Amino acid sequence: MRILLTGTNGQVGAALQPLLAKHGTVIAPSRAEFDLSKPETLAERLDSLRPDLVINPAAYTAVDRAEDERELAFLVNAKAPEIVAEWAAQHRVPLVHFSTDYVFDGSGDKPWREDSSTNPLSVYGASKLAGDTAIQAAGGPHLIARTSWVYAAKGANFLRTIARLAGERKELRIVADQIGAPTTASAIADAIAGIVLPNASDLNALFVRSGGVVNLVCAGETSWHGFASAIVAGLKSRGAELAAETIVPIATADFPTKAKRPGNSRLDLSRLKDRFGLTTPAWQDALAVELDNFVSLRRTPANS
Ligand SMILES: NC(=O)c1ccc[n+]([C@@H]2O[C@H](COP(=O)([O-])OP(=O)(O)OC[C@H]3O[C@@H](n4cnc5c(N)ncnc54)[C@H](OP(=O)(O)O)[C@@H]3O)[C@@H](O)[C@H]2O)c1
Repeated sequence: MRILLTGTNGQVGAALQPLLAKHGTVIAPSRAEFDLSKPETLAERLDSLRPDLVINPAAYTAVDRAEDERELAFLVNAKAPEIVAEWAAQHRVPLVHFSTDYVFDGSGDKPWREDSSTNPLSVYGASKLAGDTAIQAAGGPHLIARTSWVYAAKGANFLRTIARLAGERKELRIVADQIGAPTTASAIADAIAGIVLPNASDLNALFVRSGGVVNLVCAGETSWHGFASAIVAGLKSRGAELAAETIVPIATADFPTKAKRPGNSRLDLSRLKDRFGLTTPAWQDALAVELDNFVSLRRTPANS
């Protein structure tokens, strides 16, 4: 099987690449070779790459910057997925794509289901939702995995930001009224590989049967404050010498950002279990694994 995998320098793409490579030929073009900001070039690229499966974790993910770069965010997150999905539909090639909790407005306190009403608060969320809608409209076999709060030992993410700040400051002030599930890129990759690889010969039917969208996050919930506290405690228990002594919970209103973020980012995981037979690790267990990776990478800084 020829698998086209985008975004292999990103968190999810990097975690997926080795898992997929065990089972097929992974075509992993660089950004220059498969540039989602140039959607008009993509159909021709796909014609020449001839994948049997497309997995597209590449995205414009700079949530605050997107407020000033609306056009670029929509090109990469909406127009490019539309073109890829149209090509995939025409060729009956299954497409796996990734979406976000930021398609929801964060109201209430119930976990969002795959069919809950969307109402993004930010340009990033709107651009991702437009991508989801375009993929659905293209009508080909697809799976859109909705995830949240993604991090890994490498990359630009909350774990690494907190580790850095905790090394520098005695006190951290972290938002405590946004609730969601921190999710490791490797938990996402394991689940996608667990869906795609055993069903490779029948993916189109599986994707149609499954409804095309599935929530995919680690189990459990916390706030950014809870997540930061667990990171700092986990680093200290692994021998890190940190300046941070207190982590103060603050309100979103006390930490203004350019893009608005949802308060309730809980995602319901029943469909993942019922239609794919999969569960994900508790966010605390996934964090423990990732902290081990992070600490061992720090001991060999050339790798981080
Ligand atoms: N990060 C999160 O917290 C989060 C939360 C919810 C959903 N998601 C979704 O999950 C998916 C994976 O996210 P991630 O965290 O793995 O993202 P990431 O680490 O930010 O990586 C994004 C990847 O997209 C590539 N990319 C950006 N612009 C591109 C372009 N114009 N053409 C081709 N490639 C381009 C980047 O390439 P370069 O390496 O060249 O920059 C990078 O490899 C995305 O769909 C994202 O929207 C992420």
